[in-house]
Amino acid sequence: MTRAGLAALLALAACGRGPAPAAAPAPATLRAAFHGAFLVGAALNEAQFTGRDSAGAALAAAQFDQISPENALKWESVHPRPGAYDFTAADRYVAFGEAHGMFVVGHTLVWHNQTPRWVFQDSAGGPASRDTLLARMRDHILTVVGRYRGRVNGWDVVNEALADDGTLRASPWQRIIGDDYIDRAFAFAHEADPAAQLYYNDYSLENPAKRAGAVALVRRLLAEGIPVAGVGSQEHDGLDYPPLAEVDSTILAFAALGVKVMVTELDVDVLPRAMRQTGADVAQRAAARPQLNPWPDALPDSMQQLLARRYADLFGMFLRHRGAVARVTFWGVTDRDSWKNNWPVFGRTNYPLLFDREGRPKPAFDAVLRLAASVAAGR
Ligand code: XIL
Repeated sequence: MTRAGLAALLALAACGRGPAPAAAPAPATLRAAFHGAFLVGAALNEAQFTGRDSAGAALAAAQFDQISPENALKWESVHPRPGAYDFTAADRYVAFGEAHGMFVVGHTLVWHNQTPRWVFQDSAGGPASRDTLLARMRDHILTVVGRYRGRVNGWDVVNEALADDGTLRASPWQRIIGDDYIDRAFAFAHEADPAAQLYYNDYSLENPAKRAGAVALVRRLLAEGIPVAGVGSQEHDGLDYPPLAEVDSTILAFAALGVKVMVTELDVDVLPRAMRQTGADVAQRAAARPQLNPWPDALPDSMQQLLARRYADLFGMFLRHRGAVARVTFWGVTDRDSWKNNWPVFGRTNYPLLFDREGRPKPAFDAVLRLAASVAAGR
């Protein structure tokens, strides 16, 4: 049997849908380990939610009770040209989540990346007017959210609206519409599906200045009666950043606003830093150099242990705040699928998730499950 086949069998066995091989006890699952504390999810790519990657689909179905679409619901995917919507992939994504009884998240409605240029332009190629862009935003949100009304449970309405210093990012949305584009996006989403949970999502919220900006933004929206249900902290982390104390402060700061706190895009980069700044600005890139890709074949055991320790520390923190943290979502299922193989440096071999390239649980998976068991046992 291939390794991928074995992984799929183990995943199915964990689901209770098949016999576990005699030698290996059925692995416990993340969804079961954290049941009652928070949802555990993953971003799925198209190969996974269509089943083309059958091992990946089986692993995701076994391990997670929440999914996010890695790319399938971004503007460029569903609305590539004016008036032209394409829901082929997105429909499959939502159907996958429903078939497995998962909490289905939509990502993302209003962002400055992976949004076609035409969105921000007039017919002459100059900047669109405020009214034109607002009308486009409304049409997009009503169409996309409306299509999945009652089926997509929560939406990242606005993604990455803040700059690193906590002020509003000067994105095309902000420059053309003004600061109230955020209010308007939430209002349109609420109009399209009054029952859906609406979220603000961003990276580097563990940095005090940016966190303060996010707290001020969400506080203002709430004060104006805009139904923000939660804040998503992406958490594209490293082994040594952000400091655990800042993860702690971030959870506390958003919980104090009375909204759900969600870790929405968790991964832990183990490779040498290619840029001075941390964060997850997908527009930033760094050049490839051999020393930035030290483990093209396998991650050394010592690094596996560091990764396991880091994940145990992070989940220890999330569990401590289990009343506030509603879910923890990994940005990918296996190391093979992770965007971190190609960002910020293209073509590296990274190891940021809990399952290896063949879908087998890594030491970090065992560490996270052990931690959940020990907390459940009150130790
Ligand atoms: C990433 C995807 O994983 C990649 O496949 C894509 O090429 C670029 O975007 N913050 C976000 C996510 O909110 O949508 C990004 O996903 C990662 C950073």
